[in-house]
Amino acid sequence: MLTVDLLTQLYGRGHRLCATPNPRLSLVLSSEREIDLYELEQLCDAVGWSRRPLRRVRKALENSLLRVGLWRHDPRLPRLVGFARCTGDGVVEATVWDVAVHPHYQGAGMGRALMAFVLDHLRELEVERVSLFADPGVVGFYQGLGWELEPLQRRCAFWYAP
Ligand SMILES: CC(C)(COP(=O)(O)OP(=O)(O)OC[C@H]1O[C@@H](n2cnc3c(N)ncnc32)[C@H](O)[C@@H]1OP(=O)(O)O)[C@@H](O)C(=O)NCCC(=O)NCCS
Repeated sequence: MLTVDLLTQLYGRGHRLCATPNPRLSLVLSSEREIDLYELEQLCDAVGWSRRPLRRVRKALENSLLRVGLWRHDPRLPRLVGFARCTGDGVVEATVWDVAVHPHYQGAGMGRALMAFVLDHLRELEVERVSLFADPGVVGFYQGLGWELEPLQRRCAFWYAP
């Protein structure tokens, strides 16, 4: 049974339980649970990204402003099924990188939930402008979430604090 205490213990106080169409499937967003580098590598493999040396990935994560994981909840072994991270000064500017949802969990609103979670955290920091560099095939995803495209409308998108 899912209890707030158990979820807090596994994912930290700021976790967010996501609504899923399957009552037996619980997916949880957290910026506090540590990201396992091997699990992250598997997730990146699953979405078809080329591998990066783990020591560089570790450093990149350490130097990031925010690291968000989406976990398939399991009381013994939660599985990382989504990820995003941000770099920036933590006050004025932030940039979102490495947004991924495992293909098994795509198309169910998890990408939207992940991005909302990221922006909620950046809002708390009162960051004024957020940018990202979208791959051409996902520009429409960010547009649908309300991101503005840069003038050439190809890769870059901006989100401005209201
Ligand atoms: C892009 C990605 C994160 C979207 O995750 P997801 O969980 O499938 O997205 P959601 O189900 O929350 O979709 C939200 C909306 O965006 C739309 N959408 C999803 N992927 C899209 C795409 N590639 N292009 C246009 N629209 C897209 C959905 O149809 C949905 O629209 P709706 O609300 O009108 O129904 C996921 O497909 C992914 O990880 N892709 C591989 C990695 C990648 O390319 N990352 C982006 C790097 S910049």
